[in-house]
Amino acid sequence: MSQFELKDEQNHPRDQVPAFTQMVERGLSRRRFLGGAAALGAAAFFTASPISRAIAAATGNSPLLGFKAVPTSTADTIVVPEGYKVERLISWGDPLFSNVAEFANHGGNTAADQAGQFGDNNDGMSFFPVDDSTAILAINNEYTNYELMFSHQGKDMSEDDVKRAQAAHGVSVITIKKQADGWRFEKDGKYNRRIDANTPMAIGGPAKGHALLQTGADAKGELALGTFNNCANGMTPWGTYLTCEENFNGYFGTDGEADITPALARYGVAAEDAGYQWHRFDERFDLAKNPNEPNRFGWVVEIDPKDPQSTPIKRTALGRFKHENAELVVDQDGHVVVYLGDDERGEHLYRFVSEGKYNPDDQAANRNLLDNGTLYVAKFHNGPDSELKGKGEWLELSFGKNGLTPENGFNSQAEVLIHARLAATRVGATTMDRPEWVAAHPTEPVVYCTLTNNKNRGTNDKQPVGGPNPRAENHYGQIVRWRPAGGRHTAAEFDWDLFVLAGNPEVHNGDLYAGSANVSADNMFNSPDGIGFDQGGRLWIQTDGNYSNEGDFAGQGNNQMLCADPDSGEIRRFLTGPVACEVTGLAFTPDQKTLFVGIQHPGEELAGSHFPLGGDSTPRSSVMVVTREDGGIIGA
Ligand code: FEO
Ligand code: CA
Ligand code: CA
Repeated sequence: MSQFELKDEQNHPRDQVPAFTQMVERGLSRRRFLGGAAALGAAAFFTASPISRAIAAATGNSPLLGFKAVPTSTADTIVVPEGYKVERLISWGDPLFSNVAEFANHGGNTAADQAGQFGDNNDGMSFFPVDDSTAILAINNEYTNYELMFSHQGKDMSEDDVKRAQAAHGVSVITIKKQADGWRFEKDGKYNRRIDANTPMAIGGPAKGHALLQTGADAKGELALGTFNNCANGMTPWGTYLTCEENFNGYFGTDGEADITPALARYGVAAEDAGYQWHRFDERFDLAKNPNEPNRFGWVVEIDPKDPQSTPIKRTALGRFKHENAELVVDQDGHVVVYLGDDERGEHLYRFVSEGKYNPDDQAANRNLLDNGTLYVAKFHNGPDSELKGKGEWLELSFGKNGLTPENGFNSQAEVLIHARLAATRVGATTMDRPEWVAAHPTEPVVYCTLTNNKNRGTNDKQPVGGPNPRAENHYGQIVRWRPAGGRHTAAEFDWDLFVLAGNPEVHNGDLYAGSANVSADNMFNSPDGIGFDQGGRLWIQTDGNYSNEGDFAGQGNNQMLCADPDSGEIRRFLTGPVACEVTGLAFTPDQKTLFVGIQHPGEELAGSHFPLGGDSTPRSSVMVVTREDGGIIGA
């Protein structure tokens, strides 16, 4: 979300010291990385795995990738490969019920309208099958673009405008039906539901009821109102949806006297908000009046999409930070493992391991598995001789261990979780280049994480160049992957390497900014963000990057979606998005013949898009449906 980042950076500048470039000093070079390519495959830790050859130069003959790559685009449309078609499923403002107003262009709707309409800025989503012709899509609605939502562009906010913005956030649960011509949204569908910034939510796990979660309206600290900045997602094998609260800090502010504690500051909470202005009309967001309210956000929320009356639950055992997604795997012994990124420059990568075990024969017994377990944070060790691979370990974030004690400001497990970022720093976690989505391979014990970019890398002694973050002032991003020791997701240690360094080989030559060997003029991109595997083992990569098509980004065009073969390392461009959008959110039908893709914030900052309906229409974030004309498997 580039607009938010800009405001966030302006309002809450993070530690910075004069820029310097460490890369050359460290002796890393593209030549070294490329030279290591073949060797990296054969000699690296993935030797025993078919994934071992991943960073070998792409041959263009991947058996997994069967489509013809699309070129970059700067057009205001979505482009898919030959033989594919793309259609609109639902867009911001579409009514979920027949008694709700249709979307009105140029800021025409009210808060009451939005409460029954599809939310704005759709992001992560999951597909839940019901029967052969019915399914549910649970879809995050991350934030709003006031310049598109209001005719006054946010310059003359009213109470109804704030309520409308709050109603555009959260999650949209929609019923979809398989018709002769494909999957379609069903208005008035049985599962249709809006969850927004005011929906009551239970608080579960160790932080439930803690004093830091208590407010005037909820003296017990057990029932929060709403969820917002819902970025990416996860789903559980017991049929629930996980929605992740990311940049929650920007919704809080005050015109009064705020006591910004060091802990609040670490999360970017400040008297000046990110421009949403909620605190002006809703005192819940006024820091001077409700200093604990920000502590009730920054969590992973579990939702039962099949029960529209169910109360979502904030799972505090998974820690509080700017959550990106929640990638859940069940280890061989039944423990549930959730990998979690904290998307901010210099923040961390986490792992939760459940105390209980998953029982496939008793789904009801699994419902509170995410309330008890152990949270860990990743520490990456540099490899030998500055190679872009090495070992790593998971450091436990448990009260009383690793210095998480009262002397160091931690008085309980609840405080460790509420201040997970502070705990991670205390135990010595590695600062990362903005961990976005995590994706686990469907059959191999290997996990991938996008590190989208980090302009502060190497400009700050708290964020040194090295390990999986090898470039100073990294504006292209990379994907790190790791194999847990013994192939067990619960193991304490892992081996890591880099699957790809995004870059621009047309602009840079002979250094790491050109990208790794599997990046060429034909498939280059920047800022990988959404990723996910399909059941065939293809790795899908979505970008949220610089779409200027100029300078360091010349030739990269609009944001895009690519598909990679994790075995050969080949990456092929699959889709290009419209003007000023981000491509984010993906879900497949179980037969892999339909792919749902999210297009977020087309035309942000009045960039001139009219996607998806053209003419003079307001640009609208949308979920798109991609199929093959021959009905085949997507990507194959
Ligand atoms: Fe909402 Fe880090 O992206
Ligand atoms: Ca993202
Ligand atoms: Ca992003």
